[in-house]
Amino acid sequence: MQTTAERREPDARPINPKPLAGAIGAEIRDFDCSVPMCNAEFSAMKSAFLEHKVLMLRDQEFTPATFLKFSKLWGDIHFYPYMTGLEEEPEVFEILAKPGAQQFFGNRWHSDQMYAAKPVKVTLLYAKDLPPVGGDTIFSNLELAYDALSDGMKTMLSGLRIYCDGADKSRYGGKSREEWYATEGKEKTFEDESKRSMIAVHPLVRTHPETGRKCLFMGDQVQRFDCLTAEESAPLLNFLMNHIQRPEFTCRVTWEPGSMLMWDNRCICHYAVADYVGQLRRMHRVTIAGDTPI
Ligand code: SIN
Repeated sequence: MQTTAERREPDARPINPKPLAGAIGAEIRDFDCSVPMCNAEFSAMKSAFLEHKVLMLRDQEFTPATFLKFSKLWGDIHFYPYMTGLEEEPEVFEILAKPGAQQFFGNRWHSDQMYAAKPVKVTLLYAKDLPPVGGDTIFSNLELAYDALSDGMKTMLSGLRIYCDGADKSRYGGKSREEWYATEGKEKTFEDESKRSMIAVHPLVRTHPETGRKCLFMGDQVQRFDCLTAEESAPLLNFLMNHIQRPEFTCRVTWEPGSMLMWDNRCICHYAVADYVGQLRRMHRVTIAGDTPI
């Protein structure tokens, strides 16, 4: 059935999302996001986003300003405290791997800023310079990962809380996040210490605030279960980390010039594949503020 907005807007451009895999992700072509969307178009785009969780929009031509404008349709900006934004649009960050880079951003299974009290809701990433091959991003559908568990396991996990630590040095080659970001030109002036929350405790089984679906809210920022030691937590955490990476829950996105990707951190995990050593990869990124996980 058509919504009121659709009935009033007969010229709405079609979105036509094409699934990328059985589990997650869709690709949209022939839709220019720099042209303001009417209500019906935004409503169709939002439905596609909630259904597919990862949307790859091809052939976009964004300036930092128009990229930010499109991003803000999805909510307020999530302050990212580790990098300095672009001079012309400080809320847009550059994810840069130079040809000589030794370390790579997002090269681990994670959901963006799980260690924040209110982790990122949506991340938007726009390709600026791509390696000739490689540099894909892989996503896992954490709702399917939850659904695939036995009833006994689901019962055992309900009520568990995850302790997430963004300062855990083991994930940054023994460096602090500040030290890690300070290399490779990712410097940041930490002008607002109060916004740098590094530890948060969240429910392991998270309910999506818009769809009501449950997911396994897991990623490498989970250090242990709340009220358990790291050693006590390790066997179950290892099982869950391996479980969410099962190929049946994933899709792999290959970038093209002009690609813009957006994903729902409330129910997915992702991994940036660093298989382009010696090549340049440059992206623009905006993160949208989320709410307290329930
Ligand atoms: C990220 O983890 O946010 C970056 C993903 C990517 O660069 O593909």
